[in-house]
Amino acid sequence: MSQIKTGITQLRLTNFRSYGFLNLEPDNRFMPVILTGHNGAGKTNILEAVSFLTAGKGLRSARLSDVGKRSNPAALLNADVLQIPERWSVSAQVQTKDGLTKIGTGTIDGSERRQIRIDGKNTAKQSDLGRVFRCLWLTPAQDRLFCGDPQARRRFLDRLVQAFDSQHATRLSEYNTAFKQWSCLLREGRFDQRWLKGLEEQLVSNGVAIAASRIDVISRISHYLTHPLSSAFPVPEVILTGVVEQKLLVKSALKTEEEFADLLEKSRKIYADGGSVAGPHTADFKVIHAQKGLDAAFCSTGEQKALLLSVILAEMQTQTQEQGLCPVLLLDEIAAHLDSKRRNILFDILTELPAQIWMTGTDSSDFTHLTNRAQFFDVQDSNLNLQNVA
Ligand SMILES: Nc1ncnc2c1ncn2[C@@H]1O[C@H](COP(=O)(O)OP(=O)(O)OP(=O)(O)O)[C@@H](O)[C@H]1O
Ligand SMILES: [Mg+2]
Repeated sequence: MSQIKTGITQLRLTNFRSYGFLNLEPDNRFMPVILTGHNGAGKTNILEAVSFLTAGKGLRSARLSDVGKRSNPAALLNADVLQIPERWSVSAQVQTKDGLTKIGTGTIDGSERRQIRIDGKNTAKQSDLGRVFRCLWLTPAQDRLFCGDPQARRRFLDRLVQAFDSQHATRLSEYNTAFKQWSCLLREGRFDQRWLKGLEEQLVSNGVAIAASRIDVISRISHYLTHPLSSAFPVPEVILTGVVEQKLLVKSALKTEEEFADLLEKSRKIYADGGSVAGPHTADFKVIHAQKGLDAAFCSTGEQKALLLSVILAEMQTQTQEQGLCPVLLLDEIAAHLDSKRRNILFDILTELPAQIWMTGTDSSDFTHLTNRAQFFDVQDSNLNLQNVA
C-alpha cells in the first residue's frame, strides 16, 4: 500500500447547515477524527460538508439551496415561510499525492449552481475535484441499502466507479438528460423520428459505456472482495443485474449497442403508452453473503452493514493499489448495528489504511478502543471541542 496518507489538515465551513462559521484543523498525521455528541448537535453536517469536497451532491444527495444555513430552521419544514437561500462554502486544505492542495466549493447566490476552486483557480468541472480529493461514505440511510430503492444502490455503485472512470459522472448526466428528452417526446406523443433516433444514439453510446464501467469496477475490486482484511467481515459476491450490463457480460460492446438501440426503438410505443423501458437508468446489483450463500436482502441489519463495509474496504484497497491514493472515508453512526467485537476489528483495520477516517456517534464510549489512536471532538450545538490529543 502507498505510504502517503491522505486527508484533510484544515476544514472551513461558512453558512453550512447549522454552522455559521467553523474552522477545524485535524492532526496532520491523519489519525481518525471522531465526532460525538447528542442528536442534532451537528455531527452529520460536518461529514456532509466533507462529502461536498468531491464530485456529486454530497452524502445526503441534498439540493444545494437546502444546504445554506437557515436562520429560521422551521422554514426548512414550512414551505410557506419564504427564505432566501444563503450562500455557503466549504473549503479545505488536503494532502494529495502532490502535496498540500487548497480546494473549496459552495454557491455564490444560494442557487443550484456549484462553484469549485482548486488551488485558487475556478473550475466548472466537478470531476476536477476527483483528481485531488476522493471520499466514500456510509450513512444510516444505507443500512438497509439491499432492501430499499434500486436508485440508492445505483448511486452507491456509481460512486465506486467514479474513481476509476473520470468520465462516468459526465456520461451519467448526459444519459439522464437524453432520457428525459426521449421520455418527454414520447409521453407527449411527438414521434419525431430524427429527434428520437438522435437521442437513442446518445443513450446507446453513453449507456453502454456506463454499463462497461460498472462491470469494470466490480472486476477491479474482486480480488479484495474475496480476500477480506479480516474474517470478521463477510465476502460479498456482487452480481450486476441491469439489462445492458447482463448483455455486456456475454456479448461484445458492438453487439450490445445494436441490441440496446433495437430495444429502445421497439419500446417507443410501449413507453408512450405509459410503460417502462429498462436500461442503465434501471440497472441494479445484488450482493450475496458468500459464506452463507444468502442474498444480502435476507441478512440481518448488522450483516448487511458488514457486507457494505467489505465492499467499501475493497474499493479503498483497490484505489490505493492502482492509483496510490486512498479515499477518505466518512462513517456516520458507525457503531449502530455492529457488535463490539466486529466494531473494534473494523477500527483496527481503519487505523492501518493510508487515509483519514471521519466517524460519528452519539456515545463516545463506543470508540474507547481507539483511545490515544484518534482525535475525539465533542460536538454540542454546532460547536466542536477537542477532547484529547493522542
Ligand atoms: N440548512 C440548515 N440551516 C440551519 N440548520 C440546519 C440546516 N439543515 C439542518 N440543520 C440543523 O442542523 C442540526 C444538526 O444536524 P445534524 O444532522 O448534523 O445532527 P447530528 O449531530 O448528526 O444528529 P443525530 O445524532 O441525530 O444524527 C439539526 O438540528 C438540523 O435541524
Ligand atoms: Mg447524524
